[in-house]
Amino acid sequence: MGVHPFRTELRTAFRTKSIDAIVGEAEAQGATLKRVLGPVQLVALGVGAVIGTGIFATIGTASAGDASRPGAGPALTLSFIVTAVVCSFTALCYAEFAAMVPAAGSAYTYAYATLGELAAWVIGWDLLLEYAIGNTAVAISWAGYADAFLRGFGVELPRWLVTDYRTALRTPEVLAQAPHVFGVPIVVDLLAVGIVALVTIVLVWGVRESARAGTAMVALKLAVLAFFVLVSWRSVKASNWHPFAPNGFAGVGAGAAVIFFAYIGFDAVSTCAEECKNPARDVPIGILGSLAVCTVVYVGVAAVFSGLVPYPALVKLDPSRRAEALAVAMEYVALPPWAVAVVAFGSVIAQTAVLLVFQLGQARILMAMARDGLLPPLFARVHPTFRTPHVSTIVTGVLVALISAFASIDEMVDLTNIGTLFAFVLVCVGVVVLRYREPSRKRPFRVPFGAVLIPSLGLASCLLLVAYLPPASWLRFVGWLAAGLVVYVTYGRRHSRLRA
Ligand code: ALA
Repeated sequence: MGVHPFRTELRTAFRTKSIDAIVGEAEAQGATLKRVLGPVQLVALGVGAVIGTGIFATIGTASAGDASRPGAGPALTLSFIVTAVVCSFTALCYAEFAAMVPAAGSAYTYAYATLGELAAWVIGWDLLLEYAIGNTAVAISWAGYADAFLRGFGVELPRWLVTDYRTALRTPEVLAQAPHVFGVPIVVDLLAVGIVALVTIVLVWGVRESARAGTAMVALKLAVLAFFVLVSWRSVKASNWHPFAPNGFAGVGAGAAVIFFAYIGFDAVSTCAEECKNPARDVPIGILGSLAVCTVVYVGVAAVFSGLVPYPALVKLDPSRRAEALAVAMEYVALPPWAVAVVAFGSVIAQTAVLLVFQLGQARILMAMARDGLLPPLFARVHPTFRTPHVSTIVTGVLVALISAFASIDEMVDLTNIGTLFAFVLVCVGVVVLRYREPSRKRPFRVPFGAVLIPSLGLASCLLLVAYLPPASWLRFVGWLAAGLVVYVTYGRRHSRLRA
């Protein structure tokens, strides 16, 4: 009797790529890299990938809340600590995978090796949210700070050119100023489109190396945040810290779910496992160390931020200026325009670095998926002169630019967070599955306290953060996954190299 076609389908969907094959493929492609990175470089790399829009922009919404969630208020500091703990569980799982599969090191590859092709596809599709949609939020915030910087020099751009459409709908003054075509107001975040276009051109040209060697960037990010703390410190009023948690744990949880965005990117450390002198020791130190450094910086900045603007005033903040939270807080306490301009400039540079890193990562993931046959081969094409994946880079650029012209930063942050949290859940599950399926495989680093405890805590705490995101983002995410499944069924499933 023949095997039922449904069972064949199921078996295909859960077929895994062997780890040895993955490592072998990387070696065959000449991808064995020099082992030059030590723990300090890894921490710097992690901090470089992580600090960006989260601290410069999303803290506004996290502390004030909005129509769909309560604000954390000054307890934003606590939200940062909660999220750091959540991330560290998953970070340990990433470290186990990265030390074991040092060849490629993205969650997509880990899933292909453990949970099978369908899960790998879901993660790859999901990482589009982390990287591409995440970058739309970064671009929107970049535009906000670029606008604040220009204002510092007296250059006032019309609001309808620096506001996204969704936010404009909630801001009558912006709509009133905008030109109308057939009664439809024209509102476009042109600065966001501009920076994405520029980053895309630079990446097609090829700045891979400089995007990775971001030590100077890290120093600049830390310097600008230290500058914010130093110049603003004297304007902090302790009375603004009371009540500490105006909305109780509901506010702290909702805040934690928003500022999760600020921690995204620590997984970048795991992608460098192949370049570590001693991956078993350095990758966990790099990942956990960068989480720790960022948490200290974030808690300091959040404490000063919430000491500047009283919670009731934050709630009334103009939504079109949410993307430039630190600048708004400095203006609120009437700090000199040059100081605001310094923070705005530093933030613009810091966020450009984030844009570069994520746009670069996105193109690589699309390329990996195309190489596996899950996306059309076009996405794996490499430019003959520039030696960069130009098609993937340009497609990503166009997508990010279009969305950032019209989307609201909060909605994009929510969607990025839910997508990334879901990918984290799959990584946690993957660790347990592989411990049982291949118990004797060499694991240079093992998640402490057995195979189950830490991954289960990671899974449960990521799901808890998802629960604190607005329900509208759950629906968008389900829609996104459904669209992904349609693409898989109609294309990836048939063209998969593994299946062939
Ligand atoms: N963690 C990165 C940022 O905050 C995505 O910009």
